[in-house]
Amino acid sequence: MILSLGFATLLSLMRVATAQSSTATSSAPTATSTVSLNMAAKAAGKLYFGSATDNPELTDTAYLTILNDTAMFGQLTPANSMKWDAIEPEQNVFNFTGGDQIVALAEQTGKIMRGHNLVWYSQLPDWVAYGNWTPETLTSVIQTHVTTEVSHYKGKIYAWDVINEPFNDNGTFRTDVFYNTLNSSYISIALNAAHAADPDAMLYINEYNLEYSGPKIDAMVQLVTDLKAAGTPIDGIGIESHFILGEVSASELQANMEALTALGVDVAITELDDRIELPATDADLEQQKADYETIVGVCMAVSGCVGVTVWDYTDKYSWIPSSFPGYGEACPWDENLVRKPAYDGIAMAFTSY
Ligand SMILES: *[C@@H]1O[C@H](CO)[C@@H](O)[C@H](O)[C@H]1NC(C)=O
Ligand SMILES: *[C@@H]1O[C@H](CO)[C@@H](O)[C@H](O)[C@H]1NC(C)=O
Ligand SMILES: *[C@@H]1O[C@H](CO)[C@@H](O)[C@H](O)[C@H]1NC(C)=O
Ligand SMILES: *[C@@H]1O[C@H](CO)[C@@H](O)[C@H](O)[C@H]1NC(C)=O
Repeated sequence: MILSLGFATLLSLMRVATAQSSTATSSAPTATSTVSLNMAAKAAGKLYFGSATDNPELTDTAYLTILNDTAMFGQLTPANSMKWDAIEPEQNVFNFTGGDQIVALAEQTGKIMRGHNLVWYSQLPDWVAYGNWTPETLTSVIQTHVTTEVSHYKGKIYAWDVINEPFNDNGTFRTDVFYNTLNSSYISIALNAAHAADPDAMLYINEYNLEYSGPKIDAMVQLVTDLKAAGTPIDGIGIESHFILGEVSASELQANMEALTALGVDVAITELDDRIELPATDADLEQQKADYETIVGVCMAVSGCVGVTVWDYTDKYSWIPSSFPGYGEACPWDENLVRKPAYDGIAMAFTSY
């Protein structure tokens, strides 16, 4: 016990020493590509390369200068300001201030929008999550929320994540207020309401851990099959793509995308990042470059994969360190807004065809 504690302490001291000396004597490798990523994505036949962003970040001029560049980013996803708790914090009280700011920025800088998201178990206000609903009253709550939000943004949203994260990893439906009250019928209730409010918007279901084979992708394939058979509007599946360094399977990712596109829906990489156990070494950053090239390369190989969105472009505003303690440096730009080798990986994937 004492020995192993001593060894662990020694190891962590060595890691600190290594990290310090590498910062002191050399700088981390950076990107060399001169390609702009949205321009490269479009030249390759994709619709966009985009980024998530969040309202508080828009006061950061250096951050915004890069985000504004249309050659670099052709699409935005609001990280928080279109979620239920932001849009309808009290029943029938709607607040579009934050969402409107991001839509205006997209319009002014020549980008399309992914709307994110309409029905999700999380960031759900208590009045919904803990309401005493019947199937009829909750149906009405979902229809009012979806209809009001989609109508407000009609014509301004390329694609909506109508349903977010409906499945457990074992492929069963997540038991939240929606499922517990309405079973899976809540999904078609929301999709039908969204379609009626903006018939031109692409309607998506967005989910994580669809990047690997297993019960979750099988359940999603079954759900899309059932929705299509019932004539419910469904246009795409968002494959979130929150990867862990070195855990990308190109063959499984491609097979899963193709299983979905074979059913007549698009797919998109909607929340891409690739987290590293800290401290990140130069070798880790090279592996991350390879991972990004592989992931974007799979989207390139699947014609129904319409675009790639990173879940924010810079480590400065990544959700990873707070959500996965001990991990970080998941994005293609570092926390000083300097392009990492991962940037070259993305550029290579978009330009090798
Ligand atoms: C980014 O674009 C918006 C919209 O055109 C503009 O208001 C803002 O000043 C720009 N910011 C920077 C830093 O370029
Ligand atoms: C609406 O949302 C904005 C942005 O989050 C917030 O600053 C504002 O206080 C909200 N308005 C109301 C009336 O709650
Ligand atoms: C599937 O996963 C959920 C969430 O972890 C769990 O509650 C449920 O019991 C699991 N069901 C089966 C059949 O394993
Ligand atoms: C699901 O819930 C709806 C609404 O209550 C109901 O009409 C339907 O019969 C249920 N379906 C199943 C399979 O339980």
